[in-house]
Amino acid sequence: MRRHWLLVGACGWVVLILLFASKFINFSFRIPDDYGGKSEMHSLTRPSLKSHSHSAQQSEKRDPQPSLLPSVGTSTAEFSDWHSVVQSRLELLSSVCKNATLWNLTHTPVRKFVLDRIFVCDKHKILFCQTPKVGNTQWKKVLIVLNGKFSRVEKIPENLVHDHLRNGLPRLSSLNDTEIKERLNTYFKFFIVREPFERIISAFKDKFVKNPRFEPWYKHDIAPAIIRKYRKSHSDDGEKKSAGLQFEDFVRYLGDRQGRHRLDRQFGESIIHWLTYAELCAPCDITYDVVGHHETLEHDAPYILKAAGIDHLVSYPTIPPGITRYNRTKVEHYFSGISKRDVRRLYDRFQGDFRLFGYQRPDFLLD
Ligand SMILES: *[C@@H]1O[C@H](CO)[C@@H](O)[C@H](O)[C@H]1NC(C)=O
Ligand SMILES: *[C@@H]1O[C@H](CO)[C@@H](O)[C@H](O)[C@H]1NC(C)=O
Ligand SMILES: *[C@@H]1O[C@H](CO)[C@@H](O)[C@H](O)[C@H]1NC(C)=O
Ligand SMILES: *[C@@H]1O[C@H](CO)[C@@H](O)[C@H](O)[C@H]1NC(C)=O
Ligand SMILES: *[C@@H]1O[C@H](CO)[C@@H](O)[C@H](O)[C@H]1NC(C)=O
Repeated sequence: MRRHWLLVGACGWVVLILLFASKFINFSFRIPDDYGGKSEMHSLTRPSLKSHSHSAQQSEKRDPQPSLLPSVGTSTAEFSDWHSVVQSRLELLSSVCKNATLWNLTHTPVRKFVLDRIFVCDKHKILFCQTPKVGNTQWKKVLIVLNGKFSRVEKIPENLVHDHLRNGLPRLSSLNDTEIKERLNTYFKFFIVREPFERIISAFKDKFVKNPRFEPWYKHDIAPAIIRKYRKSHSDDGEKKSAGLQFEDFVRYLGDRQGRHRLDRQFGESIIHWLTYAELCAPCDITYDVVGHHETLEHDAPYILKAAGIDHLVSYPTIPPGITRYNRTKVEHYFSGISKRDVRRLYDRFQGDFRLFGYQRPDFLLD
């Protein structure tokens, strides 16, 4: 009988200890709550680029919390490490911008088309240039919440994320010249890039292979127009046509710098998925504060939030490890069987992006 009670008592202790331990477990393995707004964890040491003066002493202190999850907090040390990466990217950008021989691959006048790509968060003085296929929807949701139209990211209906008349995230082009100039001069400005060839593969897969039902024009209008003009051999059309646009057709279209213009005009807004970053965001003509890389998003996302001074308000969702890494096998797979001449033309067209953002020339495809 007594042994029975001893056992119960022991179990009670075990339960109590587990309960106690679970507090710590819960704390340290906590997944960052998506944009909930509470993140005491990082607010202790928050050096903001906008307020250098008072962050100077704070940045001496170390983050008292163990940072077990790299995607959760950016400790001050991490922040300053990444700061130097970001700065060297910006130095490269500005030196490539100055290279006269690359001029027409890197410079874009800041006209309405570019202003249409840039979204405004007045409340926190942020401008974000949208570049497809690098997690932009997440950033837009973050900014929509910051602008105050919705309290949480989860509350934004999917169909509203890209509806800029109703989602409270205006385009820079909707403002007048004085307002635009003031924002370009004083706001925190950023955008995200990725390796140009992987980006093209991603656009091709997303728009022509998966072909989302709510965007039927890629399959019904754009693909046939590209095939008509760029398919090499029309003799075996029957079989290939049923398979739709091939990556080879797409590459030939993209590499045709002169001949594309008429088609591009016909395709309208859709071309944002394969225009160069230079054409979308005018990085030589607008002085951005950060150019994030998709390949290192797990460092860039928290860095951007901190540098923009909003890391205490929002966090970027956890990025599954590895999924943003450059995958050479995939690139080789897509480009196998495409003629060197076509790949070189494609490279010529995207060379500006490769150089501006420090991506290596893919020698294994070109030589
Ligand atoms: C566990 O974490 C959640 C989410 O951060 C929090 O709301 C909850 O209070 C935590 N529970 C314990 C026991 O600390
Ligand atoms: C400028 O571009 C040319 C041609 O692409 C290249 O050979 C040269 O190294 C570049 N110079 C600088 C300073 O980047
Ligand atoms: C600039 O563009 C023209 C055509 O628009 C092209 O012929 C020329 O090669 C380009 N220059 C460079 C340096 O790429
Ligand atoms: C631009 O808009 C602001 C108000 O937002 C107004 O005060 C200003 O006069 C406008 N400037 C021009 C040039 O229209
Ligand atoms: C890279 O791509 C190939 C082919 O698409 C795929 O099988 C492989 O799993 C990918 N590797 C990684 C690390 O994602």
